[in-house]
Order: sequence, then C-alpha cells, then structure tokens
Amino acid sequence: MTHRSGLILSAFVMGAGHHAASWRHPAAPDTPAELTPAHYLELARIAERGKFQSFFLADTLSFSPNLELNGISNLEPLITLAAIAGQTEHIGLVATVSTAFYPPYHLARLINTLDHVSAGRFGWNVVTSTADREARNFGLETLLEHDDRYRDAADFVDGTLHLLNSWAPDAVLRDRATGRYLDPALVADAPARFGRFDFGGALDLPRSPQGTPVLVQAGRSPAGITFAGKYAEVVFTVQRSFTEAHSFRAQLRAAAEQAGRAPGDIRVLPGLWPFLGSTEAEARQLHAELEELVLPEQVAKQIEIFTGLDLSGHGWDEVIPELPESGFQGQQGRYHKLRELIAGGENTLRKLQKEFGTSRGHQVLVGTPEQVADSIVEWFDGGAVDGFSIQPPILPHGLELFVDHVVPELQRRGVFHRDYTAATFRDELRATSAVPAG
Ligand SMILES: Cc1cc2nc3c(=O)[nH]c(=O)nc-3n(C[C@H](O)[C@H](O)[C@H](O)COP(=O)(O)O)c2cc1C
Repeated sequence: MTHRSGLILSAFVMGAGHHAASWRHPAAPDTPAELTPAHYLELARIAERGKFQSFFLADTLSFSPNLELNGISNLEPLITLAAIAGQTEHIGLVATVSTAFYPPYHLARLINTLDHVSAGRFGWNVVTSTADREARNFGLETLLEHDDRYRDAADFVDGTLHLLNSWAPDAVLRDRATGRYLDPALVADAPARFGRFDFGGALDLPRSPQGTPVLVQAGRSPAGITFAGKYAEVVFTVQRSFTEAHSFRAQLRAAAEQAGRAPGDIRVLPGLWPFLGSTEAEARQLHAELEELVLPEQVAKQIEIFTGLDLSGHGWDEVIPELPESGFQGQQGRYHKLRELIAGGENTLRKLQKEFGTSRGHQVLVGTPEQVADSIVEWFDGGAVDGFSIQPPILPHGLELFVDHVVPELQRRGVFHRDYTAATFRDELRATSAVPAG
C-alpha cells in the first residue's frame, strides 16, 4: 500500500446539524443542546478525536430569515472558540469574521489573544458579508457593491495583518539588568493607512504564536478567486461534481501563482454532507426521513437568501420565475448555480429541494462508511480537492459516525494522517500538504 496521507478534514458544525430539519429528527438530542456551549465543546472534542485539522464556526450578523424554522446556527464564534481552546490541544479553530463592520484594531486584539489562548491554533474565515439586513444592524442602508466589498476587504485584511505583525518575534527584552522591557526598534509604532482604515500606531499586545491567523476564504466569483489567490491558505467551497471541483481548484492554484505564491499554499476544501448508515439502505432511510421533514417554506427561505426572490406562500410545485443574469449583490456563486438550475427546468421548490435545497448546493453522499471513503479518495487522488469540509446533517450524531467509521477507513487507505505532528494550525497544514502523493 502506498502512504500518501495529505488529506485535510475540517469539521463545519452548525447548531443541531446542517440539515434544515435536523433538530426535529429523533437522532438529534431531545434537549436544545445547540443553545449551550457544552454542545460546541463536545463537537470540537469529537473532531479532535478524529484528528481533523480544523473546526469551523460560521457567522452572520443579522437575524436570519430561516431561523424561525431551521433553528440556531451557533453561539458567537470567537467567544465559543476561546472556551473550546482551553479544552482541546491540537485542532485548528476557525471562526468567520466579516470585514464589513469591525474596526480592525479591535479585531486584531481579539485574533491576537485567541491565538495566544489556543497556543497558535486560530484561523480567520474572511467574509465580506452578503446581506443588506446585516448592514442595517450597523447604521448602514446597504452593503458596498459586490466587487467593492472585496477591495475594501483587502484593505481590512492588510491593515489587520499589519497590526498583528507590528511586534517582531524578539521585541520583548525583559532585561532586568538594564531595565529595558521592550526594544522599540522592533515594534512598528508608526501611523499607517490602508484604504479607509487609519492606525495611530502599533498593537498593544505581544506577537502571538502564529503571528497571523491562518487565512480562510470562501469566494467563488472572479473577485473572490483573485482575493483567495492573494490571501487564502484554506478555501471552503460548494462543488457538486468532480469536474467542476477539479477546475475550481486549478483556478485557485493559478490565482495563487499569479499572486506570487506556490500553488500548494492554497488548500481547497469543498463541503461534503455525509448521510451514513451501516448499510446503504440504512443511510438512505436517514436521508429520506430528514428530507420528508422539510417544509416548503424552508426551501423557499433558502432560495430567497441566495437569490433575493420573494417566494413566500409558494407551494411545492408552483413555477419559480427565471433569474436575471446580473444585478444581484449577494453571494455570486450560489446565485448563478440557482439561475442555471431554474433556467434548466429545476423550477419548483420540490425540484430545487432535490438539486440544491437542503444542502445549499453542497455535495451529498448517502451510503456506508466505505462508500463515502471511496468517493473522498477518488476526488483526492484525482486532484479535485485537498480535503473536505465535513458538514454533518445531524449533530453530534453525524460527526460521531464520520469520526468512528469513515476516518479509520481513510487512515487504512493511507490518505489521512493518524495523528497531529505540529504545534500550530499553520504548521499542521504545512506538514499535511507536504506529504507527497504516493
Ligand atoms: C462553506 C462556506 C462557508 C461560509 N461561511 C460564511 C459565513 O460564516 N459568513 C458569511 O457571511 N459568509 C459565509 N460564506 C459565504 C462566502 O464568504 C462568500 O460570500 C460566498 O462564498 C460568495 O462568494 P462570491 O460572491 O465571491 O461568489 C460561506 C461560504 C461557504 C461556501
């Protein structure tokens, strides 16, 4: 057998599970566990037991239209991760933070401290925010237009990284004999400006173990790909077919090269929804049970979020109008996917539930651990992915099944590491990616 570990696994958890009906299924806890920090702590521990390289909490900054039926996604991610950091040792901890509303100085302090608290395990999923309802919680009518958001995000990230880098690793002297605590020559304490962001001087905190967080990103538009090429070390994405995933990864690797980086500096992790059973029939039953619990309003709300269409009151089989080619200012990737599906005849809530609806366009695998491992290995060996963002339909149920049954299978096949080897999240990613394919 060849030894070619190198696959990256990230656990993307959301409330009682990614599936819209997760909390109603008997495999989900009876109590509203997803409202408690203990739930997220348990999930992180399970992912760490499975040697996942990363654990991810998403975030948006408004009351979501699908909260009423789908339930909560998670608690505030930076604080939740701070609690998890104290109870885990190895796993990378990734949180979404939007570039649209935070003052970078505040964010740099939070990131710096989280990287200290986790001993070098923090990752930042950089998002630009996509909904005007988020802007309205911050005194703004609308977000900037799509491509302007990416330009502004570049200034925001540059500014935040500048602050995080303002202390050189050896700036602290703590020299009792001379009485000098710091070497001011090693702290960049000068005013600086990045686009609309102005700083009077350096960060007031010592450099953290990683210095800067592992940068994660999830754009699929041309502007998003250019942005990822410049900054992203990890990319989350929605890819349903091997061919599309392969070409998307090639685009990102080319974008990284264009930005003067090595193609391997960027790792592409499409989302994967595993519906697992000890037999294929059992897995199919779980999938069917969950899909049957979905209400038409849940599919409608999901489509509304990604297209701006008003589908309130739409029945399962009512025809949905075609979408215009341009003008939508939210997430571009999903908008165009839905536009294509609707134009291609998948134009009712019932059809869209099947083709897109409850998995938000992510790849769905229904089967035994061996079947899921087969598909993962095929995509990985074929060069379509560097790994997957595992998005279990029910939590903790689906993550436990994956860790206990799919992970050992991937390890047996030699594609996934058996243990952590590095001290920081960035070094763990480098150690994983450095293993040559056998
Ligand atoms: C797996 C995944 C996770 C994401 N998490 C968040 C999130 O937590 N918050 C957010 O505002 N956007 C999130 N997004 C949206 C992306 O940041 C981005 O807006 C989207 O992929 C569209 O990018 P584009 O307009 O460049 O195509 C996520 C996207 C994906 C695929």
